[in-house]
Amino acid sequence: MGSEHQVLRRRSSIVRVVLFGLSLLGGCAREHAPARDRSAAAAPALHGPADSLIPPGPLGAAIQRGRALLLATRDSLPSHVGNNLRCVSCHLDAGRRHAMGSWVGVYARYPQYRPRSATVETIEYRVNDCFRRSMNGAPLAVDGAEMRDIIAYLWFLSRDVPIEPAAPGNRLQQWAQLTADTTAGAAVYAASCTKCHGPTGQGTAVAPPVWGPQSYNIGAGMARIRTAAAFIKENMPFDLPGTLTDQQAFDVAAYVSAHPRPDFPEKMHDWPNGDAPPDVAYPTLAAQRKSAGAPAKPHAP
Ligand code: HEC
Ligand code: HEC
Repeated sequence: MGSEHQVLRRRSSIVRVVLFGLSLLGGCAREHAPARDRSAAAAPALHGPADSLIPPGPLGAAIQRGRALLLATRDSLPSHVGNNLRCVSCHLDAGRRHAMGSWVGVYARYPQYRPRSATVETIEYRVNDCFRRSMNGAPLAVDGAEMRDIIAYLWFLSRDVPIEPAAPGNRLQQWAQLTADTTAGAAVYAASCTKCHGPTGQGTAVAPPVWGPQSYNIGAGMARIRTAAAFIKENMPFDLPGTLTDQQAFDVAAYVSAHPRPDFPEKMHDWPNGDAPPDVAYPTLAAQRKSAGAPAKPHAP
């Protein structure tokens, strides 16, 4: 037990040293280097396999290239990114943060049925969903080298995670009982977010935008109040994560979500079975059909 703990602790300190090294390497090239003032006490848990387990040779090189693309997404793939975010703006610590947005185990969770598309999605489809929505950009070729390398990194992060169906239950249901107060949310934003994300949400040298033309688009998961509240509650403020109450996280999520951001023209085709969650900020064709009394359009099996 004790020695297991030690191994775990050693593992995670190796990870942290490597990540710290990476962030130093990337720091000068990146616009949004994470703020450095996080105290050691508040350092969130990282998980996933130690970088020392990255195999040598071509596979290891693909894993490293994949991670580099996720860290410097816009500089590496400018024609696929339409805003000022990078993949790890939301998937913190290169996807290793033990919180909402973690990529550890993600490779084992796909293929997966998702109601937003009403299809069984491959992991490549899911990655491209974030390119189109969260990055307000264009999908990668599914059989190209960039996608291959990104998947190689996600595969590596999923080492030793068993492949099994996702646990049932709706994680976001806990937010259903709250009522959002955007005035209170504005106060939370001013007190806890402005210093990094800027008074008008446009981002600063230390943090990316949270609304406006350089942010994620309306079709992104983060544009849903419950998703944003869950992310903010676990991860923000970046220097003091976990310090907001549920109500504060929900209010500030509603405040952020109330601001304009890029459109996603295909959004009306989402949730084609008419089962969009209540915090989706736009009407879908299926929901309109449903409220007009027409049966939901049957979809291909
Ligand atoms: C604006 C925030 C944001 C950005 C930027 C972003 N994502 Fe996401 N991503 C999300 C959210 C929110 C989810 C859903 C997370 C959940 O349900 O736990 C998600 C889910 C995913 C998943 C599926 C996770 C799972 O457990 O099923 C993958 C894979 C993924 N993103 C990859 C990417 C990649 C690759 C990029 C860059 C091209 C990217 N994301 C950029 C917010 C973002
Ligand atoms: C100390 C600086 C800091 C503070 C304070 C802070 N953030 Fe962040 N936030 C960041 C950084 C840095 C990132 C991106 C992490 C990365 O790129 O590694 C981020 C990412 C985000 C994201 C996902 C990416 C995006 O820009 O859409 C959201 C949403 C967000 N923060 C909301 C908030 C909210 C709401 C608050 C206030 C409760 C807050 N943040 C407070 C630094 C901060």
